[in-house]
Amino acid sequence: MDLSETRLSIQDESDVARAALQTGNFCEALGFDEIRSQMASTAVSELARNIVKYAMRGEVILRAVFRGASKGVEAVSIDHGPGIEDVEQAMEDHFSSSGTLGLGLPGIRRMMDEFEIESEPGRGTRVTVRKWL
Ligand SMILES: Nc1ncnc2c1ncn2[C@@H]1O[C@H](COP(=O)(O)OP(=O)(O)O)[C@@H](O)[C@H]1O
Ligand SMILES: [Mg+2]
Repeated sequence: MDLSETRLSIQDESDVARAALQTGNFCEALGFDEIRSQMASTAVSELARNIVKYAMRGEVILRAVFRGASKGVEAVSIDHGPGIEDVEQAMEDHFSSSGTLGLGLPGIRRMMDEFEIESEPGRGTRVTVRKWL
């Protein structure tokens, strides 16, 4: 598989499934083991699902990252939806503004090695995650 940057446009549940599959393929091509690759694809599917649910549309960008001798995968989810009023609250286990599990964002943070979230009400949300081999 091609390891150059891949941009995935996200607007419905089939895009969510496709993004998870592509992340798995990307990770395996990079040399990830099955478990760590599963964690990355689960994280991407939660990010993509949040895009569909809260922002209607957006994108996920996958790229290989290198730091010293380590390599890893970076996924950036970007949308121009409503943004998050209280990011700290959104990161708490079981907080959900839509009555679902509220374990997406905190789960993603636990599964990945690095996690950054930027969100501005009315402007949108950007989440960057990385997992190293
Ligand atoms: N891309 C997004 N745009 C706007 N709000 C979001 C986005 N992603 C998450 N949120 C907010 O953060 C909350 C927590 O998200 P998450 O942990 O994935 O749980 P859930 O999706 O089950 O509600 C959501 O209920 C929503 O209010
Ligand atoms: Mg969610």
